[in-house]
Amino acid sequence: MLDVYMPMMKSSAIISAGRLGLFEALAMGPLSVPQLAEKIDSSLKGTATLADFLIALGYLEKRGELLANTASTQRWFTSLGQVDYTPGLLWTHEAWPMMGGLAEAVRSGHPEKMLWDAMVEQSHLGELFSSYMAAFASDLGPDLLKHVPVSPAYHRMLDLGGSHGLHAIRFCQRYPQLGALIVDLPSALTETAATIESEQLSARIRLCPGDLQEQDWGGEHDLVFYLSVAHNHSAEENRHIIQRIGNSLGQAGLLVIHEYLSEQPLDALDAAFRLTLLVETGTQTYRYEDYCSWLAAAGFESVERIDLDPREKGSLILARQGGLGAALTSCKPM
Ligand SMILES: C[S@@+](CC[C@H](N)C(=O)[O-])C[C@H]1O[C@@H](n2cnc3c(N)ncnc32)[C@H](O)[C@@H]1O
Repeated sequence: MLDVYMPMMKSSAIISAGRLGLFEALAMGPLSVPQLAEKIDSSLKGTATLADFLIALGYLEKRGELLANTASTQRWFTSLGQVDYTPGLLWTHEAWPMMGGLAEAVRSGHPEKMLWDAMVEQSHLGELFSSYMAAFASDLGPDLLKHVPVSPAYHRMLDLGGSHGLHAIRFCQRYPQLGALIVDLPSALTETAATIESEQLSARIRLCPGDLQEQDWGGEHDLVFYLSVAHNHSAEENRHIIQRIGNSLGQAGLLVIHEYLSEQPLDALDAAFRLTLLVETGTQTYRYEDYCSWLAAAGFESVERIDLDPREKGSLILARQGGLGAALTSCKPM
């Protein structure tokens, strides 16, 4: 029973701390329990009981009589840290009731309701999910800049499933010759135009709201991002989408895929993620060999796989149809 009870309480306590703004309240420095309770607008008894458990979990620590964030909490769950994953806590609060339908999804083999449909019905879900993806994106951004070579000849970038817009913004800021088109469902784009405007990039980054499988992506592109979107589609859909990307890439253009690649045997994180997908979208993660076969069918001749560090960050696949790809390793089954 401890395998069931303790993860529930651990998850619930950390999520509640995020919802109450408890970690953020301690970001500027340690506080006494009464000071913290007042800052998060909560009871003394409730704050002290939650804090006791967060101390036992290593999320908070005692400094004399005061409470403080541990270094890891400060780093991952406050605005002063490296990346603030608080939106991930708020999203997980919404995902809890969805996971209540896991047994039914196992029985039927598909979600009771597609996540994207739920986002249309409950508009706050799309905004929350995009904020969570934005936290991932600020974590992944430096890896992308490091590993994705952008030629001075590249002008047209396409970000399929570009959501929050942070990847397009980052690349347009780094490479002044680039302009970008972001295609995503309307539910994912509610804040994107404002974010682009705040970075004064509205003249260079355009939005195309809609299903990427149905939208016309418009003309040729030099750099295409398909980042963490393949696991939201079936194998057949991915084969088709990658074929379309191949057709729309200019000569010497580059396709960048970010994904969580399945290995045999599945590790616990991948197996858990596949269960989440079963409940939310009815899709799955794929093997590197699957991507290789879709890319080969679409005429991509050179493919490079880069496993990110730490491993939980997933992998990048860089693919070219020829030309400049000579220096890259060829796509071989692993
Ligand atoms: C896991 S998120 C990744 C977001 C972003 N690419 C990133 O790496 O941070 C997947 C995104 O794909 C979008 N998406 C999924 N299926 C889509 C479809 N058929 N058409 C357009 N967008 C889609 C979702 O709305 C969501 O924004």
